[in-house]
Amino acid sequence: MQALRIGFGEDSHRLAPGRRLVLGGVSIPDAPRGADAHSDGDVLIHALADAVLSSFALGDIGAHFPDSDPAFDDMDSTPILQGALDMVRTVARSARLTQVVAVVTLDEPKLGKHRDAIAGTVADLVGLPTDRVGLTFKTSEGLAPDHVQARVVVSWDGAG
Ligand code: C5P
Ligand code: MG
Repeated sequence: MQALRIGFGEDSHRLAPGRRLVLGGVSIPDAPRGADAHSDGDVLIHALADAVLSSFALGDIGAHFPDSDPAFDDMDSTPILQGALDMVRTVARSARLTQVVAVVTLDEPKLGKHRDAIAGTVADLVGLPTDRVGLTFKTSEGLAPDHVQARVVVSWDGAG
């Protein structure tokens, strides 16, 4: 078996007024609206956690961290990511995460000025240098103005 693995995850939320927009553990100060969600609605962390789980066929975050659980109300989503990483450590002790690449689709605000903060926070959360966290930002070109979406691919080495 090859020692390389990849995982893929996706998450979306509707944007609603009066909510914070949290992406990769960073609260975006100039966002006019945020994710209408049960937890903090951090689509980047949710997609990343699903990518981590999918790498080792460990199911998805809904199976392990049900959003019906009141413990997750408006909560910081980063423990979900830590839980997913812990599950991988249990099944594949020698596996090392080597890269995180993400595409975030959001019409407003432009996120480029927050790239370093988001990449730095995600890198710290997963234990990677920032040059292994690639973030691409896209608008929907007005096709989905009420939508925030993240798609994430992760790669691993030493998982054989
Ligand atoms: O979606 P579009 O191709 O028009 O985006 C153009 C550029 O705008 C992207 O390459 C990215 O640099 C930037 N962008 C951004 N924040 C967003 C959407 C796009 O910084 N929310
Ligand atoms: Mg374009």
